Amino acid sequence: MRNVLITGGAGFIGSNFVRYLLDVDPHIRVVNLDLLTYAGNLENLTDLPDADRHTFVKGDICDRPLVDRLLRDYQVDTIVHFAAETHVDRSILGPEQFVRTNVFGTFTLLEAARGFWIDGKPQTMSGVRFHHISTDEVYGSLEPGDAPFCETTPYAPNSPYAASKAASDHLVRAYAHTYGLPITITSCSNNYGPYQFPEKLIPLVILNALEGKPLPVYGDGLQIRDWLYVEDHCEAIWRVLKSGKIGENYNIGGDTQPTNLEVIDTLCSILDERLRDSEHVPHIDLVQHIPDRQGHDRRYAMDISKIREQLGWQPKEKLDSGLRKTIDWYLDHPEWVATARQQGDYQRWMGQNYTNRKDIQ
Ligand code: NAD
Ligand code: TYD
Repeated sequence: MRNVLITGGAGFIGSNFVRYLLDVDPHIRVVNLDLLTYAGNLENLTDLPDADRHTFVKGDICDRPLVDRLLRDYQVDTIVHFAAETHVDRSILGPEQFVRTNVFGTFTLLEAARGFWIDGKPQTMSGVRFHHISTDEVYGSLEPGDAPFCETTPYAPNSPYAASKAASDHLVRAYAHTYGLPITITSCSNNYGPYQFPEKLIPLVILNALEGKPLPVYGDGLQIRDWLYVEDHCEAIWRVLKSGKIGENYNIGGDTQPTNLEVIDTLCSILDERLRDSEHVPHIDLVQHIPDRQGHDRRYAMDISKIREQLGWQPKEKLDSGLRKTIDWYLDHPEWVATARQQGDYQRWMGQNYTNRKDIQ
């Protein structure tokens, strides 16, 4: 692994991974292809370690000539594919963009990789890899007593986002089976940590609480997610790139499954401690239940025994310490927060999803 194309590397997990990769291996050069949609932010890429080994290219993964050129010009041997539309609520209000980016975009990258690595020169196939980043949401929703998702759990995506990710996973698998493209897939649970766009649950709650705004809880708030600190996710991807078996899928999760209300309660308690003099203490009083998300998945949980046993990975961060780090990061980066909220369609989205919420039920 020398020349790595990272797609979506200006987003939340992608930018954390770019930083991780430059740090972990001094020989790797990164080309970062990102369209800078509302979720992409160049401010996520400041202070990169050894930034000379990072090249940013603003562009679309659906642009085949551009992807072809990047593979050729940078002699790419590894693709790590993060770029996607990622917000379930946005997929409910506007699914088309999810199909375009997540399905057609992944298809375009696969075709370009096939063209560059396989066609006419199969000898170049050794040492190349297409690594696809997927999600636990492709497996659907668990009932209270159900066993956690494992790699062989049948796909049952419920939201347009999950369905578009499932479709992209199937394409990746098919390119391995049909054309022999060397692939790996990781399916991960909900991430949190630095640089997450402030419309997702954890940063939204932190920032609203700071300002004394309502903390919006969909429905009864008893939905369960399997939260993972983003650096743990980066390390898991690195392990799979280094030692994962070609053609395999690995589930990644945080081994912790609180309800949304428990997460919000923990965040509020930490904020109460950190900001003792705030007029908004106790922050938990800001919780406001609002109409539920359509088709809201009730419970996700990941069985991570495969990656633990085969690659020796497990999450290092506990939920409480990870949330503390995350709160501290948002408290320490008010300029980043202001930029993210100014750019990127944030205000329009807040109006559409919250102010007008009754209209969309
Ligand atoms: P994000 O929304 O923060 O970032 C997505 C990035 O992709 C942005 O920088 C955006 O500009 C870029 N992008 C979007 N469309 C593009 C296009 N057509 N061409 C090029 N770039 C484009 O997302 P994230 O939370 O960092 O998620 C990254 C990946 O991880 C996604 O594939 C997502 O499905 C997966 N994932 C996310 C989570 C999570 O909790 N956030 C959990 C599991 C899996
Ligand atoms: P989110 O961060 O959007 O991730 P996902 O839907 O992909 O799991 O939401 C996490 C959980 O928080 C999910 O159950 C929906 C819930 N949620 C709220 O209750 N209120 C909110 O304002 C948001 C954004 C999410």
